[in-house]
Amino acid sequence: MKYQSQKVAYWYFLTAMAVFAVQGLGGRWAGCSYIAPNFWADVVPFNIVRMLHTNSLIVWLLLGFFGAAYFLVPEESEREIHSPMLAYIQLGILVLGTAGVVVTYLFDLFPGHWLLGKEGREFIEQPVWVKLGIVVASLIFLFNITMTVLKGRKTAITNVLLLGLWGLVLLFLFSFYNPTNLVLDKMFWWYIVHLWVEGTWELVMASILAFLLLKLTGVDREIVEKWLYVIVATALFSGILGTGHHYYWIGLPSYWQWVGSIFSALEVVPFFAMMSFSFVMVWMGRRDHPNKAALLWALGAATVAFFGAGVWGFLHTLHGVNYYTHGTQITAAHGHLAFFGAYVSVNLAIITYAMPILRGRDPYNQVMNMVSFWLMTGGMAFMTFVLTFAGTIQTHMQRVLGENFMEIQESMHLFYIMRWGAGLAVVVGAILFIYAQLVIHDKPKSASSEG
Ligand code: HEM
Ligand code: HEM
Ligand SMILES: [Fe+2]
Repeated sequence: MKYQSQKVAYWYFLTAMAVFAVQGLGGRWAGCSYIAPNFWADVVPFNIVRMLHTNSLIVWLLLGFFGAAYFLVPEESEREIHSPMLAYIQLGILVLGTAGVVVTYLFDLFPGHWLLGKEGREFIEQPVWVKLGIVVASLIFLFNITMTVLKGRKTAITNVLLLGLWGLVLLFLFSFYNPTNLVLDKMFWWYIVHLWVEGTWELVMASILAFLLLKLTGVDREIVEKWLYVIVATALFSGILGTGHHYYWIGLPSYWQWVGSIFSALEVVPFFAMMSFSFVMVWMGRRDHPNKAALLWALGAATVAFFGAGVWGFLHTLHGVNYYTHGTQITAAHGHLAFFGAYVSVNLAIITYAMPILRGRDPYNQVMNMVSFWLMTGGMAFMTFVLTFAGTIQTHMQRVLGENFMEIQESMHLFYIMRWGAGLAVVVGAILFIYAQLVIHDKPKSASSEG
């Protein structure tokens, strides 16, 4: 560890991994409900389990991003974090808010209360008081990290990271605006959900990948920076108007069908660029870095993101196709592979890279970590295939032949059993990953390696 204050990242990563475990269990539970619809439904109903699954996903990914920023900004800026104390306060607020969401939903506290009760828009269900807490924590974060960057060396990596982080926090402010008009409600909801994963988060991902590849391959910084700008430019050019692919059927003007189709089709470009960039860097690189597992996760992230977001996104993004596939298992297939490939994997990549450094050791448990990579990635790929087959049948029977939704669900039972198995592989992989990070039996680090 070059800078003492990087230690902050350690606590963010630990919290992130704990919430990751909760997300995995929530997914397994929801997966059980698809096979046996009343599975533990009187303990916690499906909608609440599903909410916990998707929200814990978002929370731990953000914790991971914050941790990544606290880890890499000191190295890039060549100085300590402005205030480690503020960083810990920020983490405390986030943990408290997360616990608040869980308790409010599990026990249905303060139903209907504007400040304390449930909110109920997918991904932004947090009670208003938690949303306020998130904003306070985010402002603390932005202040802290921006001060660090301003006082230190400025690099393309920190610039792009800051742009992404500022953007994602500002977009979250739309969660406070909940118009009664359902069309407007949905329209602004996508400002967050879409402009996060297909805009600002892409910038965060690109800068983390750039940092990792710089460290792992030893290529020249100028080359990394050139690619980074290409990715940012293509991501924003396509992603902003690409929001239109969610405006086809919610009551917005019909020109969105063309704007959305054209620009969202172009969204494949930044993901393709990220993948090519990563492989070119490894091919050009001169360094033989000992942390092979981190490199595997970095390359995996770039590749699976291209398939999950790029290929599976394009699959249903043209309005002529989406007319049939909208809201079917095709969407769930894409949602899983895209989130996993892009943001789960890039988080696990930076965690894999940073943990040995934060714990003052040589890279450890690498084989176990790589096994967890293949288990999780293989499981997710299989889940995606299964859901894609299920979604194709569902689309045909329900949208083309016009048959009854519930009867079709019945006939997809076999797919849901296979999804359950795939989910098991993912969760076993996740447990293995967490174990590999936390439990070490070997000696402390040798004098030679750092960074
Ligand atoms: C890191 C891994 C995972 C990620 C990134 C992830 C992500 C997601 C996302 C984004 C959604 C919402 C999908 C949508 O709105 O279309 C979702 C829903 C769901 N996930 Fe996961 N998930 C993961 C692991 C799992 C696992 C292991 C299972 C277990 C079988 C699972 C089962 C489900 C189920 C059943 C739903 C509800 C789908 C529905 O309502 O139709 N997930 N997940
Ligand atoms: C890493 C980036 C991405 C992530 C994490 C992601 C995730 C998701 C999720 C979770 C949903 C379901 C939202 C909901 O209805 O609740 C969704 C919907 C959708 N995504 Fe993505 N996505 C990504 C990139 C892309 C890209 C690049 C494209 C196009 C090329 C795309 C096309 C779509 C479309 C068309 C829908 C709407 C599906 C429907 O009509 O039901 N996505 N995405
Ligand atoms: Fe989108």
